[in-house]
Amino acid sequence: MQIVMIQDKIIPAEEVDPVHYDRGIFFGDGVYEVMRSYNGKLFALEEHLKRFANSLSAIQITGIEIEQLRARVLRAFEAAGIADAKIYFHVTRGSAPRDRSWDDSLEPNFFLNLSEISDNSTDRTNGIAVSTHPDWRWKRCDIKSLNLLANVLAANDAARKGCGEAILVDEAGLITEGAGSAFFAIRGKNLQTAPLTANILPSITREFTLKAARNAGLEVVEESLAVEQAVGADELLIASTTQDIVPVVKFDDKPIAGGKPGKYAALLNREFSLFTA
Ligand code: PDD
Repeated sequence: MQIVMIQDKIIPAEEVDPVHYDRGIFFGDGVYEVMRSYNGKLFALEEHLKRFANSLSAIQITGIEIEQLRARVLRAFEAAGIADAKIYFHVTRGSAPRDRSWDDSLEPNFFLNLSEISDNSTDRTNGIAVSTHPDWRWKRCDIKSLNLLANVLAANDAARKGCGEAILVDEAGLITEGAGSAFFAIRGKNLQTAPLTANILPSITREFTLKAARNAGLEVVEESLAVEQAVGADELLIASTTQDIVPVVKFDDKPIAGGKPGKYAALLNREFSLFTA
């Protein structure tokens, strides 16, 4: 005998929709991607699919092919007809009664949501405030896993403080990345950002930002920044698929670049837009 209760309804176990047994819900046992289009053209599709394949393989989800995923993304994009779209998708290991170990025969579950991307041009023009938060995440942040509780708590803490992003700080006082973005400092002629290790997501916008920086004549330095170095930087930036490059004008209440977006933020965004045109 088994009882299932969903909200306030008791449901015979055999009638429960398998979606309620998704291992993504029980354990965050799945991986996801967020990509976008500019003006009717998908941006960096191959890069996102490759990172997704790496995430799937890192947590040993099998039974779904990248070609199949590519076809689904393209089909949804075509069906939606949205020129500037945000495309979220995830694959979980599948649905099964709650048990930490899994059966290899489980069929993965797929979910995709495609919507118009919100316009953040005001943030790009005016800059945002950020606040620091301890990096409470696990040791494989290079996997784009559905386990986002530490990111969610940090981001919500920042939002409550009136900030647009939380900047995560590890136990050594070094900045890893934003709760949902890559993080950069301009120091003199250098663009500095944390190196690609298991502590950060291999952000795709980060790659394009580094290219944009080189094109703009900046030297790229892949070294973690201490909080004090960030506070004293000439400019700070965050970057992600959904926001492009956004200047940070306040860091834990301290003004950066005189509290206004600096010249490199605009220059990098201009260089970046050449990749998305
Ligand atoms: N997040 N770091 C973290 C922790 C992120 O969640 C993201 C993006 C990035 C930037 O990665 P990319 O440039 O590939 O978007 C860095 C997406 C947008 C999200 O979770 O919604």
